Amino acid sequence: MSPKVSRRNFLKKSTAAGMGAALISHMAVENVMAQTPAPPGSLPVVISSVNGLEAVKKAFEMIKGGSDPLDAVIAGVNIVEDDPNDMTVGYGGLPNEDGEVELDASCMHGPTCRAGSVGALKFIKNPSTVAKLIMDRSNRIMLVGEGALKFALAHGFKKENLLTDKSRELWLKWKDNLSTHDDWEPPHDKEGNPITHGTINCNAVDARGNIAGVNSTSGMAFKVAGRVGDSPIIGAGLYVDNEVGAAGSTGHGEANIKVVGAHTVVEFMRDGASPEEACVRTLKRIVEMQKKAPKWWGELQNVAYYAINKRGQFGAAAIYGETRYAIATREGVRRLECAYLFKKPAGAN
Ligand code: GLY
Repeated sequence: MSPKVSRRNFLKKSTAAGMGAALISHMAVENVMAQTPAPPGSLPVVISSVNGLEAVKKAFEMIKGGSDPLDAVIAGVNIVEDDPNDMTVGYGGLPNEDGEVELDASCMHGPTCRAGSVGALKFIKNPSTVAKLIMDRSNRIMLVGEGALKFALAHGFKKENLLTDKSRELWLKWKDNLSTHDDWEPPHDKEGNPITHGTINCNAVDARGNIAGVNSTSGMAFKVAGRVGDSPIIGAGLYVDNEVGAAGSTGHGEANIKVVGAHTVVEFMRDGASPEEACVRTLKRIVEMQKKAPKWWGELQNVAYYAINKRGQFGAAAIYGETRYAIATREGVRRLECAYLFKKPAGAN
């Protein structure tokens, strides 16, 4: 090293050079992805969690009819939010420990690089529409609780009771079974599996390669009031990059937040991974983290990711097998099995 080049300057220069190289290779991958046209007839594509069969169908039809992909996926998700039989999303979602339904949602619009999100929203059954309202009508991204409700009411949303008889009965049953030993244990379904979380994530790419996504949930069943999961956190529950693709999650929100999962999936795709491979690699990070966490953080619970890229390739993966997803392509609307890391253990949900 020349005596004139101090160690500090050398490090500065070599780091900058290294960053430059990394940036160029990063951009090269992006450019290849952006410039390689999707195979003819491969677009549009809409993917969602398993509960979104009607959502992908609706979104696909709307996109084919010329709608913006974000309007389309939100219209699809609204169907599930309005359905009292889906107890993990919107109206009829399982309440918090006080018996109040608190909803979380987020959305991202790839072409305009915008996002909106809402946390712990009460009384409004379509939090995904409120997330888009925040995106469209403010220069903020996230509103929570009282403020989010005030914003929605000011824009014409009406307050509704979101607790159905069925979800109230399950909440009462959970309360009846509380003891000093159960650590807010969730109720179990007929097969003995705990009912803890469920969510809908829906992502779409239209025929021009424009991408959008949405995530909506009532969160963890009987959560502590004010608990917000991964769904409204941009980068965790949802991420869209119009040059690369989109990804979103369902399942154990706390585990996903720690790996900033949806963003991580998109970054793996940017670096060349297929959507399925990107989901699998992100799930492996969760498993590695969980191994190091103290026991009281709990068992490894299911997390699933759903991803599409700009070319219309799609894939999904879950920590546990027997997890499915919904897809709409020109070949039709159907449910498919997610790739997975482990066989589903007895008692996992
Ligand atoms: N993934 C939904 C939640 O944990 O809130």
